[in-house]
Amino acid sequence: MPQITVTEHLLLHQKESPMATGRFTRLLNELILAAKIISREVRKAGLVDVLGFTGEVNVQGEQVQKLDEYANKVLIHRMQRAGVLCAIASEENADLILIPDTFPKGEYFLIFDPLDGSSNIDANVNVGTIFSIYRAKDSGNGERLSDLLQKGSEQVAAGYFLYGTSTMMVYTTGSGVHGFTMDPSVGEFLLSHPDIRIPETGRVYSVNEAYWHYWDDATREAVAYFKSPDNTRGKPYSLRYIGSLVADFHRNLLYGGIFLYPADVRDPKKPAGKLRLLCEASPLAFVCQQAGGAATDGMGDILDIEPQELHQRVPLFIGSKNDVAKVSEIYAKHR
Ligand code: AHG
Ligand code: MN
Ligand code: MN
Ligand code: MN
Repeated sequence: MPQITVTEHLLLHQKESPMATGRFTRLLNELILAAKIISREVRKAGLVDVLGFTGEVNVQGEQVQKLDEYANKVLIHRMQRAGVLCAIASEENADLILIPDTFPKGEYFLIFDPLDGSSNIDANVNVGTIFSIYRAKDSGNGERLSDLLQKGSEQVAAGYFLYGTSTMMVYTTGSGVHGFTMDPSVGEFLLSHPDIRIPETGRVYSVNEAYWHYWDDATREAVAYFKSPDNTRGKPYSLRYIGSLVADFHRNLLYGGIFLYPADVRDPKKPAGKLRLLCEASPLAFVCQQAGGAATDGMGDILDIEPQELHQRVPLFIGSKNDVAKVSEIYAKHR
């Protein structure tokens, strides 16, 4: 396959889209540089002092891993200097991260999960970075959440970096989903998975079954369907769940399957489950939709949810179109 870089691909294959502007390309290239720096640190995590915890607890109520903090700092430092953003939001920061007056601002709003799958870092299991890009409604000063919070369908781009057996970037600007693999010998992401399409019916389901007793009847019926010999496949789906959303999602995107993180009736503070709408569910829902898949919270399309707050959580059922439709059908029956 000829060596096509992300920038070349954006300019060549999406020239008709407004995304091929120099400003968006600059945003993407700064994001790619940040991911290269994070990837370098992830790859040597065992050798330098980035394993383990910082001792802090983040806005999510989670123990912060050193690599969470490192990735967050790299992304904030790089993206504040991109010159095209009016505001930044991170899973790790309670409030908006503003662009210092010393740097030029722009019309884009970037939200990210700097390191997804943090619980896996010390065990050398795949982790990733998830990102979501909007055009601010009024990029005046980018400090008003009301100018920034928008439905997932308003995203101008979304995707993720996966620090796995190789380092990959998978993203969409609304013209299909394209995967790039880092060639360490040149330090560039090169096109490796053009036009990714997710199989309409999968063969994998991904859920943490340990929470069975905390699920409602609709959720139990949905999970029971995927492991039943009587489903439309006539045999159980394989259960694959490694506790890194971005890695579980990527495998299901390529092989076909569904990832489920249902609501948890146990914790009144988190009735909607654990995953965050703006930095996890929405960006992956945009990628999945563009690859021919779907994503729902059990009631409707993830991309139609009007966010009310920065760290809003949602139940997430995402993957192959027919499998997600099955979950929606079961939930509708129980309404
Ligand atoms: P993060 O590391 O960004 O906080 O996200 C962790 C998420 C997601 O990656 C994964 O699917 C899920 O937490 C695992 O949660 P459980 O351990 O409750 O299954
Ligand atoms: Mn976290
Ligand atoms: Mn995450
Ligand atoms: Mn995270």
